[in-house]
Amino acid sequence: MAHVLNAYALPASVRPRKLAGGTVVVIDVLRASTTIVHALEAGATEVIPCQKVNEARAVAARLPCGGVILGGERRGLPIKGFDLGNSPEEYVPCRVEGKTVVFTTTNGTRAILRARQAQRVLIGAFVNASAVLNQLLGQEQIHLLCAGTRGLPSRDDLLLAGMLVDRILQQADPSYQPNAQAVAARETWLQAFAPPGDLGAEPLAPQRLAEQLRNSAGGRNLIAIGLDGDILAAAQIDCFRSVPEMDPEKTRIRLM
Ligand code: MLT
Repeated sequence: MAHVLNAYALPASVRPRKLAGGTVVVIDVLRASTTIVHALEAGATEVIPCQKVNEARAVAARLPCGGVILGGERRGLPIKGFDLGNSPEEYVPCRVEGKTVVFTTTNGTRAILRARQAQRVLIGAFVNASAVLNQLLGQEQIHLLCAGTRGLPSRDDLLLAGMLVDRILQQADPSYQPNAQAVAARETWLQAFAPPGDLGAEPLAPQRLAEQLRNSAGGRNLIAIGLDGDILAAAQIDCFRSVPEMDPEKTRIRLM
């Protein structure tokens, strides 16, 4: 029987109930998914994604004082009264170790919460791409859910979705049937990184990936607000080996 391999350029491209029973990878390379990996790798015990700023404040207020960090962004910038913004490298052990991060971003946390009906919800970024791929191989229903940027598809997300589609089709049994958006994402990836004669060239240098990420809606927004350094942080491919996973019932994200 054919295995499902679907990509969605935006959360609105899929009805939440279509994700039920499947494994979803939520992708917001610039920057929410990259930042969540950093936060948990730096020792945060869990990340609680929230859709709205007020909701995040209320969730944080119910947690033990001293054990919680409020993080996230609006318009890319730190939110008034929050402890941290959405720059991956802000999430270091001295700020987050042993703490719960209550987190809200414009598109990323919204996409994560839209995947709640799935059986498994993984958080994917270039910084943990191979670890995510290992979790996906053999799964019967794979859904790659891109967060996009302010309602429009963003090339940073499509590149990672395309890379995962390409690797799955290369490595897994050929019974996966990619949907049209998965085929398109794979084309985006191959056009960027596998011109004739360069097929399979690896490893991918972060500077090269960063060049592509800069040329995305999310990348241009970050450059405009002086956060170009976050793009290079997001391009450190495979610098981590762990995969954050959300408990769909409790909506808490931890390292698997
Ligand atoms: C998002 O959720 O879309 C991102 O966090 C936006 C950003 O990087 O500022």
